[in-house]
Amino acid sequence: MQIGVLGTGNVGQALGTRLAKLGHHVRMGSRTKDNANASKWARKAGKRASHGTFADAAEFGEVLFNCTAGSTSLAALQAVPAAAFEGKILVDVANPLDFSHGLPPTLSVCNTDSLGEQIQRALPNARVVKALNTMNNSVMVHPEQLSDQHDVFVCGDDADAKATVRGILNEFGWPDEQIHDLGGIASARAQEMLLPLWLQVLNELGHPNFNLRVVT
Ligand SMILES: NC(=O)c1ccc[n+]([C@@H]2O[C@H](COP(=O)([O-])OP(=O)(O)OC[C@H]3O[C@@H](n4cnc5c(N)ncnc54)[C@H](OP(=O)(O)O)[C@@H]3O)[C@@H](O)[C@H]2O)c1
Repeated sequence: MQIGVLGTGNVGQALGTRLAKLGHHVRMGSRTKDNANASKWARKAGKRASHGTFADAAEFGEVLFNCTAGSTSLAALQAVPAAAFEGKILVDVANPLDFSHGLPPTLSVCNTDSLGEQIQRALPNARVVKALNTMNNSVMVHPEQLSDQHDVFVCGDDADAKATVRGILNEFGWPDEQIHDLGGIASARAQEMLLPLWLQVLNELGHPNFNLRVVT
């Protein structure tokens, strides 16, 4: 598959590296064509990896990942010509964290709206699936690194898009029983509102190598 990864931070790099290793062709996007992180990543990730602007990555990918800083995601995505998103799956991994009031960060949107919904409204022709935002980037792409069972949440309005994302999660190593489909994109509120809890657990443990588990 051709995949566009919009974002050059730890998440974009972890997803891009894993996807390229799995045999996908990945283009990483940035605000600028010559982003140092992106070119270093592309050199390291091998022949299936390339980089360019956010628009280049969006145009290239059949499936896209939003790995931009949550406070800037809407601006970053809206700077791309809307045609690049037409009918495409956009996996939104971002969290609407606001660091402007110090630590811990607050959520810039919650309860009655979410970043996932804002992105879906801003890009009505894209099929937004919120996924993987509730864990550290290394756990996203190598769930087997945690010894016990743990879970990932997905939501979105388009069933086919969610099925494709489930397939990618399976490729990363997530078994179906650890993937929880929470319904439509409005459930992005719940997924994003897990972040304050996640950050407090990070603070308690002192490392990010953990995840949440649903027990019935
Ligand atoms: N770190 C994790 O393990 C983790 C886990 C779950 C979810 N998340 C979420 O995933 C997203 C990515 O996290 P990250 O830690 O990899 O990277 P990040 O530092 O949060 O974001 C880096 C990306 O944001 C873009 N960006 C920054 N300011 C911008 C602006 N003013 N306008 C447009 N784009 C801008 C950067 O563009 P350039 O490439 O041009 O610099 C870069 O591509 C975040 O929303 C985060 O909350 C992170």
